Amino acid sequence: MDTLRIALTKGRLEKDTVALFEAMGYDCSSLRQKGRKLILPVPGTNLEVVLAKAADVITYVEHGVCDLGIVGKDTILEHGSTLYELTDLGFGRCRFALAVKKGTSFYEGYRAKQVATKYPNIARSYFEGKSMDVSVIKIEGSVELAPLLGLADGIVDLVETGSTLKENGLEISETICEISARVVANMASLKLRKTEIEALVEKMEQEVRKTI
Ligand code: PRP
Repeated sequence: MDTLRIALTKGRLEKDTVALFEAMGYDCSSLRQKGRKLILPVPGTNLEVVLAKAADVITYVEHGVCDLGIVGKDTILEHGSTLYELTDLGFGRCRFALAVKKGTSFYEGYRAKQVATKYPNIARSYFEGKSMDVSVIKIEGSVELAPLLGLADGIVDLVETGSTLKENGLEISETICEISARVVANMASLKLRKTEIEALVEKMEQEVRKTI
């Protein structure tokens, strides 16, 4: 059978996905002892796991060099991609929020507001939805610094446990949306290998349901 290639987001989602695959009965020893290897076969199956950064998972699936991808809804929303989202795996749960310095209000005063974020498209569409003219400043990481240094009035960022906000004197002003890991598919792969892909996703869903 032809190889079915799955792009998996390295880091936070990787551990939960490997645990899911193990629960599905797959031998994940190559994924557990991967060293610096980036393409890993799953022995006894036609599956091949490709480890990539979140945004690159979307790129590989969009271009069809990977059939499926496991990636956070945050990356999907930011990318605004045309991928087919097959299922919500329920792990990697966190939320997008607007956060500000503790005790301040993002909306007070008439001055034009600025937000810092790693997700400019999500931030822009959020404020457009509120018909607010907010300038969005793109930051690459540790966005919490921006309001602390006086660069922005707030941040739009992912909040998981809330401890990064807390430890830096920030608090949630508004929750924007809930995020979790999703399975995405390349449109052509889905057409050509529908039965095989649907069976795999169904197996994932069955396992995920057991843990809820
Ligand atoms: C994410 C996010 C927050 C933090 C939230 O950053 O951007 O900074 O995690 O997690 P918490 O609510 O559990 O504290 P990440 O760790 O990916 O680092 P980065 O900002 O440097 O990209």
